[in-house]
Amino acid sequence: MKTNRKWLAAIVLAVAGVAAYSAVGLFGGAGAVAPPTSVQIAFADDASPADAALAEIYDRACRACHSVDGSGAPLTGHMADWQARETLRGGMQALLRSTRQGYRDMPAMGLCNDCSDDEFLGLIAFMKTGGA
Ligand code: HEC
Repeated sequence: MKTNRKWLAAIVLAVAGVAAYSAVGLFGGAGAVAPPTSVQIAFADDASPADAALAEIYDRACRACHSVDGSGAPLTGHMADWQARETLRGGMQALLRSTRQGYRDMPAMGLCNDCSDDEFLGLIAFMKTGGA
């Protein structure tokens, strides 16, 4: 019996640990990165995808929020923020899911209802590096 209790205590602790870790990830994680520098802010103001079709979508949908410092959206080219999000959510497919479903102040489909998954992935790749 004693051994069982020990196991139970270990499991309870492990579950509590995972819960605490996820709470940090959800509520503090991505916000804990250093804010963008003035160079990054100026870059985001101008940057546009090289691909013309993606640039057209970026301009009409994502740019309004993702190029503006202080909008609450991760800035285009602010790699530390994007990297933290990619790690926390579990990769590009998870970021794609956030885009499709919306995430907190991020509207579902990023205001591009006719966008395909490939287009979203291209836009996210561009925003997270500023160079796609
Ligand atoms: C109306 C403003 C707005 C528009 C338009 C917008 N976003 Fe966002 N986006 C946000 C905000 C705000 C966040 C941060 C949400 C948070 O973490 O609270 C965000 C976060 C994201 C994230 C990270 C989600 C995560 O899980 O951390 C991705 C990916 C993203 N946006 C993709 C896009 C794409 C692609 C477009 C254009 C098709 C787009 N967004 C258009 C406001 C916007």
